[in-house]
Amino acid sequence: MMKRPEFRTAALGLIWLAASQLSVTAHAVGVADAAGNAQAGAGKVAMCIGCHGIEGYRAAFPEVYRVPMIGGQNAKYIEIALHDYKKGNRKYATMRAIATSLSDQDIADIAAYYAAQAPSSRNNPDK
Ligand code: HEC
Repeated sequence: MMKRPEFRTAALGLIWLAASQLSVTAHAVGVADAAGNAQAGAGKVAMCIGCHGIEGYRAAFPEVYRVPMIGGQNAKYIEIALHDYKKGNRKYATMRAIATSLSDQDIADIAAYYAAQAPSSRNNPDK
């Protein structure tokens, strides 16, 4: 999939940042079970907010394009979507790279976190 170079650079930066955070998380968590923990998930979505946290659900970074709303989405739906990106059943390159960096536990936690969000959630800058 063709991408503008600035987009690719920015995305790689995000992924690098994400990977460095997640490796710390992975060490702390140890062996993963698949039950999602929304509180743990809150610490794992820093890299998602740049794209999924824009009002109107459009990222302006580095150009405007549509990003789906995931706050308040069903946890199973989010989990399946992330596993599909990871396996390559969904093809969007940036999401695929991100999902590949997530463990099953990360995915479960993130899904639980986003599923618990509502537009009125006080701490919900990140829809
Ligand atoms: C670089 C921007 C970007 C980042 C960072 C990003 N996403 Fe995405 N995400 C997208 C775009 C764009 C789509 C739509 C892709 C498509 O058409 O398949 C998407 C799709 C998704 C979907 C599928 C939504 C649906 O309605 O089907 C989920 C779930 C998701 N992202 C979760 C995450 C999570 C969790 C993170 C952080 C770990 C994250 N994304 C980080 C841009 C991003």
